[in-house]
Amino acid sequence: MNCFNIFTSKRHKPSPNKSKPSTARSVKSSSSVDSPRSIVELYNERGHNLRKFSFLELRNATDNFNRSLKIGEGGFGSVYKGSIRPVAGHGDPLVVAVKKLRRNGMQGHKEWLTEVQFLGVVDHPNLVKLLGYCSADGERGIQRLLVYEYMPNKSLEDHLFYRSMPLIPWITRLKILLSAAEGLAYLHEGLEVQVIFRDFKSSNVLLDEKFNAKLSDFGLAREGPQGDHSHVSTMPIGTYGYAAPEYVDTGHLKTNSDLWSFGVVLYEILSGRRVIDTHRPQSEQKLLEWVKQFPPDSKRFRMIMDPRLNNKYSLSAARNVAKLADSCLRKNPEERPLMSTIVDRLQEAIRESEINNISELRSPLPEPSTRRMV
Ligand SMILES: Nc1ncnc2c1ncn2[C@@H]1O[C@H](COP(=O)(O)OP(=O)(O)OP(=O)(O)O)[C@@H](O)[C@H]1O
Ligand SMILES: [Mg+2]
Repeated sequence: MNCFNIFTSKRHKPSPNKSKPSTARSVKSSSSVDSPRSIVELYNERGHNLRKFSFLELRNATDNFNRSLKIGEGGFGSVYKGSIRPVAGHGDPLVVAVKKLRRNGMQGHKEWLTEVQFLGVVDHPNLVKLLGYCSADGERGIQRLLVYEYMPNKSLEDHLFYRSMPLIPWITRLKILLSAAEGLAYLHEGLEVQVIFRDFKSSNVLLDEKFNAKLSDFGLAREGPQGDHSHVSTMPIGTYGYAAPEYVDTGHLKTNSDLWSFGVVLYEILSGRRVIDTHRPQSEQKLLEWVKQFPPDSKRFRMIMDPRLNNKYSLSAARNVAKLADSCLRKNPEERPLMSTIVDRLQEAIRESEINNISELRSPLPEPSTRRMV
């Protein structure tokens, strides 16, 4: 699903921070100091770990951006599977994903820069690793590319909504949610500077060979509010269906906006349905409206569950996940839970499902080599 870009996003210029963010809930890293540094300052300190590629290197890495190596397409541009030589120049080539900015692409240079800056600073097993970038301005126009670790199992969106992809069993779904939640909790609560992801959706949850989730696409990420400010003011930007309604209405961005998007993905994973699906009957097109008819404690709750799961899930854990989704989708953003609370609840749901010893645990996914990949 592509991003909407209602207006051009007014970039928040990182200002020297005068005081700690007022969130008592923040778990600060050991590097926390009285005046937390901005992303730009942190980037200037840490960003040199990123490798700078020439355009030629990336062209060679992707066989001249060969169509057969194309693995995806988004608002930023096309994504190719590629192969680069290791840093020291010897050893096995490294398989990577190369994202190439479409010229005059909507997300454009600003998002490219934001992505480089944020991913140059953050470091967590549930965030995709940016290996390097290419920025070249020449006769052939501007070239902006990003080079990431390659995620062999594509995105959660691919698995949930494309019938050609293997089914994700219940426990794996919960573990994907847990690892994605851990990534978001780190951004919200685990860094010196609070980071709002702003574009949480199933296509931005990438899956590694063991189906661990890693969040990708930091082009819309923002630093959280500083000092006494309760929110960051921006022009609404994000993806239809996933963006929190109060953010779309006011442009006031908070970490709680990410919680709304997380609630949407919780329902997508329970139901196997897209948040907006115009191919369904009118009354079922909007997932959040449709699920309201089947509340978590009702007898008809099972109706929302993905039929591809074949009833192989823990009903009580599923009800609890739906309740968790409802708490993320509260109209009042202040009433939404913290990401660290979501992490705890998902761990409970996993324990509950494992205790129920459901049969799907005995029929895991096939080995990666037998899965159908692009
Ligand atoms: N590091 C990666 N490894 C493997 N596949 C990737 C990687 N990054 C992206 N992809 C693939 O490319 C697809 C497109 O990604 P991209 O982030 O450009 O667009 P999107 O998330 O679908 O849409 P949007 O631009 O609105 O965020 C992903 O869904 C995924 O299948
Ligand atoms: Mg994406």
